[in-house]
Amino acid sequence: MTSHLSIIDAANNVDFLNGSITGKSVINKTKYLKDLPNIFEDKISFENMDENKIIYKVQAIFPVEQGLEGGLFYGRTIIYPGKIGNEYYMTKGHFHEKADRGEFYWGIEGEGMLMLMDKNRNTWVEKMFPGSLHYINGYIAHRTVNTGNTVLSFGACWPSDADHDYQEIMDNGFSARLKEINGKPQLISTNK
Ligand code: PA5
Ligand code: NI
Repeated sequence: MTSHLSIIDAANNVDFLNGSITGKSVINKTKYLKDLPNIFEDKISFENMDENKIIYKVQAIFPVEQGLEGGLFYGRTIIYPGKIGNEYYMTKGHFHEKADRGEFYWGIEGEGMLMLMDKNRNTWVEKMFPGSLHYINGYIAHRTVNTGNTVLSFGACWPSDADHDYQEIMDNGFSARLKEINGKPQLISTNK
């Protein structure tokens, strides 16, 4: 009897030191300052900055079609260090379109905070550092913030039918902001 075993190289590779992924199906996205209107509080500082400044980059692998139930997506985000006014660089943040879908994040490089907010607008943070592991429950909005002086790099894995819902955060933001006060990150309520 002949066997039909085959050995296939993985199509993509991950660098464990910085989380960067390489391979045939890697998709790269760059978020410039101009892509992030209404995210940062200090509008004057925002207007005075170079609109083409890169704030963060996302790499992702979508091995199955977006929206398919049962698949998984893999991503890696880097957020550059910096502030707008006294607020740290951060991602847009989102709920999932299919709101009950969860997600894993894990810290790879640098230091930061994962900001989480429930439907009642209660916000809290988890520290991110190389090796930190974060389970984001369904129905929880999530945003990442680079509170350090170096690049913050983290990995993510989420269901292929989760998709991103940015609207609530675009309209109302989170109920707190991470600002540098006396040289340290502090979570400041927005009363919103
Ligand atoms: O799927 C995720 O939650 C991440 O890959 C984020 O999309 C990524 O970190 C960028 O954040 P945002 O989508 O909020 O711009
Ligand atoms: Ni997500």
